[in-house]
Amino acid sequence: MSARTGILGTGMDRSDGRLKVTGAARFSAEHPVPRAAHAVIVQSAIAKGRIASIDARAAEAMRGVLLVMTHKNAPDLPAPRPPAQDGQPPGPKLSLLQDDEVFYNGQPIAVVVADTLEHAQDAARRVKVRYAPQKALLDYKLARLEGRKPASRPERPADTSRGNVPGAMARAAVKVDALYTTPIENHNPMEPHATIAAWEGDTLTLYDSTQNVSGVRKTVAARLGIAPENVRVICPYVGGGFGCKGNTWSHVVLAAMAAREAGCPVKLALERTQMYGPVGARPMTEQHLGLGAAADGKLAAVTHDTISHTSFLDDFTEPCGAATRILYASDSLRTTQRLATMNLGVPTYMRAPGEASGSFALESALDELAYALGMDPVRLRLRNYAERDPEKDLPWSSKSLRECYRVGAERFGWARRSPAPGSMRAGRALVGWGMATATYPANRQPARASATILADGTAVVRSGSHELGTGTYTVMTQIAAEALGLPVDRVRFELGDTAMPQAPVSGGSMTVASVGPAVHAAARTARDALVAMAVADPASPLHRADDVTVENGWLLRRGAPDTREPVAAVIARHGGEAVHADSQAAPGDERKQYSMHSFGAVFVEVHVDPDLGTIRVPRVVGAYGVGRLMNAKTGHSQLMGGIVWGLGMALTEKTEMDWRTGRAVNANLADYHVPVNADVGAIDITVVDEHDPHINALGAKGIGEIGITGVAAAVANAVYHATGKRFRDLPITPDKMI
Ligand code: MOS
Repeated sequence: MSARTGILGTGMDRSDGRLKVTGAARFSAEHPVPRAAHAVIVQSAIAKGRIASIDARAAEAMRGVLLVMTHKNAPDLPAPRPPAQDGQPPGPKLSLLQDDEVFYNGQPIAVVVADTLEHAQDAARRVKVRYAPQKALLDYKLARLEGRKPASRPERPADTSRGNVPGAMARAAVKVDALYTTPIENHNPMEPHATIAAWEGDTLTLYDSTQNVSGVRKTVAARLGIAPENVRVICPYVGGGFGCKGNTWSHVVLAAMAAREAGCPVKLALERTQMYGPVGARPMTEQHLGLGAAADGKLAAVTHDTISHTSFLDDFTEPCGAATRILYASDSLRTTQRLATMNLGVPTYMRAPGEASGSFALESALDELAYALGMDPVRLRLRNYAERDPEKDLPWSSKSLRECYRVGAERFGWARRSPAPGSMRAGRALVGWGMATATYPANRQPARASATILADGTAVVRSGSHELGTGTYTVMTQIAAEALGLPVDRVRFELGDTAMPQAPVSGGSMTVASVGPAVHAAARTARDALVAMAVADPASPLHRADDVTVENGWLLRRGAPDTREPVAAVIARHGGEAVHADSQAAPGDERKQYSMHSFGAVFVEVHVDPDLGTIRVPRVVGAYGVGRLMNAKTGHSQLMGGIVWGLGMALTEKTEMDWRTGRAVNANLADYHVPVNADVGAIDITVVDEHDPHINALGAKGIGEIGITGVAAAVANAVYHATGKRFRDLPITPDKMI
């Protein structure tokens, strides 16, 4: 498609890069809304119980205070508690001040609105709350005893089974049976959640930091009982999301309620500490892995039983077994999923939810099996290579995993590994080399886009998608320019507005695969309309010509490129009227015929200080098959970001809870440890050539999440190789090492 113009795939600089570094890009709390007041959320100080009394008089009397909204005076919403559905717990998912019940420590229980942020913060501290506490369930060991089966959805079954697992396991020559645990992790995007709500009559405008503008519109309209058409959500930039901005949380609806009650626009920005509780987290998981293999390494049985924690307000499932079902060709396999319900905020999606935590357990267990067999870990994986999807019994739309193992191993120098634990050194440091497989589904949803070619020969292309720092503006500009036949600097791509054609949530690594084809279709339709105008126009040098296309801003004949005229000239002769096209693109039956996933291989070197137990990661090599890469630079950055997060998952990240109170004690960026530049060594990424004719018109799979998968296991496996100690509980901190 791009062979001639070479726009797609090149590492074009970010089209929004200059706006970002100069501060001109507006994030949600920065939109200049006249007369906007400031809102602050008051959070519960107990984990379970009732609000016995709430006294707002002192707060209301303070200077600048416009409103103190509590469950006593908040407007009644039409459906404060959606009816319980089968298999779902009763109760509201959002905390919208409709009653006096408290389900977790940190739950929003009041909103204070004042003329300045300082006045609002000051008044929020003076809201007096008396609680009638009840005994909270904050003991995971108790909660897991009452493990509940989550509701199954066709695409995400709670339990699966194939073959004869007990029989195959009993006959297996070599077995691994191990328990792996991962902690609660919290999202720490640079930009915390923020919302500005402004009413004009019955219509509401929300400037909200979200991965899903149309989802926010739908949720807010439903909870307020107004028509979705009366809600507009605007979000041109997101300062990082990673899943926590995929849902619509309480504060968004509360901002809209407060703005209506206060009679003025309201700005509500969460503080960093408020990111730990009311807006999701990766749940803790406990994963029991069983592997049974023949002496030659062939897997005969796999079991993966997961318990993840959830909240009394709603079910959230971390589907750790999802990747296990498809990754290796074992005839017998069982996965189960249970929920341990606790008095905590509702967990949510965090980068590769399921695959990140699940691949830690599965790929660690594979390494344990390799040692039990005395077999090289890469060879063991090749021995069990799945030539087709073993769960759905479908061919892959494309799979380059064999090539990823080969390229990764070669670039890493894997052949020089001496397999015995503790057998490699660098000075005093124990050196370990470990590897793991990476995988993530190639998701896609329907999307719409529009393309308008203007009189000056430039084009504006729109889709209500999102820019999370991932490169959506840049990549969609490339796709549109390529399809329009215009240079990239004559194409402006716009996103992040429900007034634009609808796009899906920017989650599940599916923005490029979903929105890209819609942008491509709209741009092609507009280009074709422009060509038809020229061909029908006796004044055009291309009148009645065949094989006319648009390249680099010129309409021309393919066989005779000297017969040409500029785009602007055609439009000028038509009264300067813009050429407009609306298109949609959606997945079709190909998803019933092929199984669609990305795969990769990640190799890690660790240096362990034998006295201090500290672990450094001087280098990581990753090789990935992700279909066609749309932009080499932003694509590599995405994969690299995923790997860096994987290092954090392996070595530093954990939300430390005070289990007496149900509050996070490290709810800030100083105490919640994510890797900084000094923690990250050389990262070498290869995207292998992969042609996928089935996935979509662009041949592109997603890259947002696969980078984190496998990394924690590769680190843990490298630590085992270095030290002979197997770590099955993340993160691997020095206190566990010594
Ligand atoms: Mo991603 S966790 O689907 O935003």
